[in-house]
Amino acid sequence: MRILITGGSGRLGRTIVPLLSAAGHSVRVLSRVRRTGPGLQVSYVVGDLTTGEGLTESVADIDAIVHLASDSRNARAVDVEGTQRLVEVARAARVKQLLYVSIVGIDRIPFRYYECKLEAERLLAESGVPFSILRATQFHSFVALLLNEASRYPFIMPIPSGFFVQSVAIEEVAARLCRAVNEGPSGMLRDFGGPEVLPIEEVAAAWIGRTRPYTGLWAIPIYLPGKVAEAFRAGYNTCPDGDRGTMTWSEWLKRSFNEA
Ligand SMILES: NC(=O)c1ccc[n+]([C@@H]2O[C@H](COP(=O)([O-])OP(=O)(O)OC[C@H]3O[C@@H](n4cnc5c(N)ncnc54)[C@H](OP(=O)(O)O)[C@@H]3O)[C@@H](O)[C@H]2O)c1
Repeated sequence: MRILITGGSGRLGRTIVPLLSAAGHSVRVLSRVRRTGPGLQVSYVVGDLTTGEGLTESVADIDAIVHLASDSRNARAVDVEGTQRLVEVARAARVKQLLYVSIVGIDRIPFRYYECKLEAERLLAESGVPFSILRATQFHSFVALLLNEASRYPFIMPIPSGFFVQSVAIEEVAARLCRAVNEGPSGMLRDFGGPEVLPIEEVAAAWIGRTRPYTGLWAIPIYLPGKVAEAFRAGYNTCPDGDRGTMTWSEWLKRSFNEA
């Protein structure tokens, strides 16, 4: 298949591009930056979802689009208006499949970025282009990034009390997306998350134990007011009844921080 990947240079994109390429697909990556990349089966096209630059060229002769491009700080322009532009060129080019990656719980957590992702899902579902949508939970690597940011104060790492985390290995999300490409357009797929739902206190303690042992760093739960925090405390960002990957948070920490 000839597959266009938007966001192919991002965290998830860098994982899925070699997988699809190794599976024998011809992969084209849309990026705002001129890039060259690994493998004869991967080509790059410069384009921008916020302006429409390069989009028509990017979908020429493409069978399927894996739409991963996103920007939480500019979500209306990228995720909503950009998705609308992408859908229009995909429809005109008679693309047979558009696969979109979304986030578990976006319909129940009133967070601005999530509202934009929900709007993008609706645009896709109403586009007339055959589609699949996979909602995934947070990636282990993303949770680690957030914890790292929270650890910038000496000794004290503030964490939101009562939150739950069901993070998942990015490779497992990429593998699920590859299967979805092969399965063809299937509408809304079952949510996909990590193997365990953990209280954030446990997640933070394991991260400190693995990355900052003996530093005296201590995770301090802080109660956050508001509807967004309430939704996270209710666990709407998790999918205990969905499909699950197998790599646990502690296995991922062990692998990523290189200790036996
Ligand atoms: N991170 C998580 O834990 C998580 C969990 C579940 C679902 N997701 C979803 O998975 C997807 C990928 O997430 P990620 O963490 O891999 O993202 P990321 O690392 O932040 O990468 C974002 C990508 O979007 C592209 N992009 C941004 N603005 C663009 C624009 N104006 N035009 C074209 N491309 C643009 C960037 O490409 P260039 O810079 O090369 O242009 C980059 O490759 C997103 O839809 C996200 O909502 C993420």
